[in-house]
Amino acid sequence: MSAPPANPPLNLTNIQGDILSGLPKKTQFYIFFDIKDVAKFRADLVKFVPIVKTVAQVLKDRDDIADHKRRGLPGLIPMVGVNIAFSHTGFQKLGIDDSTLTPLGDNDPFKIGQKRDAVTNLGDKTRSDGQPDWDEKFLKDLHGIILISGESHASIEKKKLEVEAIFHVHTPKASIQEIATIRGDVRPGDQSAHEHFGFLDGISNPQVLGFDKVFNPGPKPVDPGVVLTGETGDPAARADWAVDGSFLAFRYLFQEVPEFDQFLKKNPLAKDGDGKDLTPQEGSDLLGARTVGRWKSGAPIDVTPFKDDPALAADPRRNNDFAFQGEINSQLRCPFGAHVRKTNPRNDLEVPPAPINPIPIEKRRIMRRGVQFGPEVTREEKISGKTQHGRGLLFACYQSHIENGFQFIQQSWANSKTFPPFETQPEDPGLDPLIGQGVREMSGLDPLNEQKVLSLPDFIIPRGGEYFFSPSIKGLKNTIAKA
Ligand code: HEM
Repeated sequence: MSAPPANPPLNLTNIQGDILSGLPKKTQFYIFFDIKDVAKFRADLVKFVPIVKTVAQVLKDRDDIADHKRRGLPGLIPMVGVNIAFSHTGFQKLGIDDSTLTPLGDNDPFKIGQKRDAVTNLGDKTRSDGQPDWDEKFLKDLHGIILISGESHASIEKKKLEVEAIFHVHTPKASIQEIATIRGDVRPGDQSAHEHFGFLDGISNPQVLGFDKVFNPGPKPVDPGVVLTGETGDPAARADWAVDGSFLAFRYLFQEVPEFDQFLKKNPLAKDGDGKDLTPQEGSDLLGARTVGRWKSGAPIDVTPFKDDPALAADPRRNNDFAFQGEINSQLRCPFGAHVRKTNPRNDLEVPPAPINPIPIEKRRIMRRGVQFGPEVTREEKISGKTQHGRGLLFACYQSHIENGFQFIQQSWANSKTFPPFETQPEDPGLDPLIGQGVREMSGLDPLNEQKVLSLPDFIIPRGGEYFFSPSIKGLKNTIAKA
């Protein structure tokens, strides 16, 4: 681990906790709300701001959790964290000028909102009336989101009552109305931190200069301004109140787990890339790993292409230390379209013969948070291979520019069959097999026949979303709240 490069320190008491350090959570409410009465809301917010958890407080929480574990104490420390963010329509309703948050003007994703972006840029399926094919609740204008995270349902339910009391919800004095509340839960037992398909998630997030203290080998650290507005590396000029915030791109993503498992079972790879015969189970596991770019354990296939290595997966000094450069222009170790290669192509865009990359790849990084929702797969679902209960990922990521981060990754990388664009390679990579919108066809899944194209059903279906801005504490206190 190398020493952190020098960078001006950030004011960690001014930044909402989820952005840089992730609110600690076993469970989390996502409360989507509308502002009913602007004056009352701004007055109620004065009482709400003190319960918003900052990065500084989350770091302290994380120290407490580590200490609890070190001392071998039983159970989990009771702990809750609350954050808040607003959509563009929310700021409009509040009468707050958010023009420095929308430098692209009428094309700015924050300004147009995700409902429109979904059909114009993200490629989501549309209904006959031109609206995205989403759950009704996400077709309404959502003014904001409140996140409540904690170690238990009891803790977050108690906190939710406290929050509702502040905004007088369910009374004639209510300043907000809850449009939807979705609860996410970390999966149980040894699946904790694994998403519903079974792959360990949350391994690769950007390391931030001026914040992180330990820099593990892997992609270059990013300037704080890639995640935070108004910090070093954010090229946009922001109003004072809009500094030290971050855009939260939320997506309500359903996962068809029994169908995904059936697909792997029906299409096992017969041999690995060394020509070794595989059992049907090994062949299905390798196919799954090649769609994601990591084994279920989290070990990157670019490092260990044909055999899982759980010890490597668990080692933060090694589990991100790869750049797809061992075999530039080849899909032998990792398909071009594998989810992690599509969403962070690392040296694919940096090292010759890669095409000129106008924006350094560090500017495309996003800070992923989010949590699973819905129950575990039931026995009936396993047997039938058909989803009967909704489940998936409450995808959430932070960045200082949605058009450089989430929107770009989804539109220009995941949805593009020609990305990454290797001129010397005859086959198209195909869409991201997990999140690509369009005809999900992908090459490179068979390491011994890279040009073979496999069609994949839509295992992940977007059913809603919105773009929010998570302001600094000063922004909340001095500009948005008003006694
Ligand atoms: C249900 C939907 C999704 C699932 C199941 C999923 C699953 C995963 C998994 C298993 C990993 C590897 C673990 C890690 O590197 O942390 C990963 C990485 C990643 N995903 Fe997703 N993902 C989903 C949606 C998305 C979306 C919508 C985006 C952005 C448009 C995205 C962007 C990324 C990025 C940037 C990485 C890290 C790549 C790297 O730096 O190596 N994911 N995802």
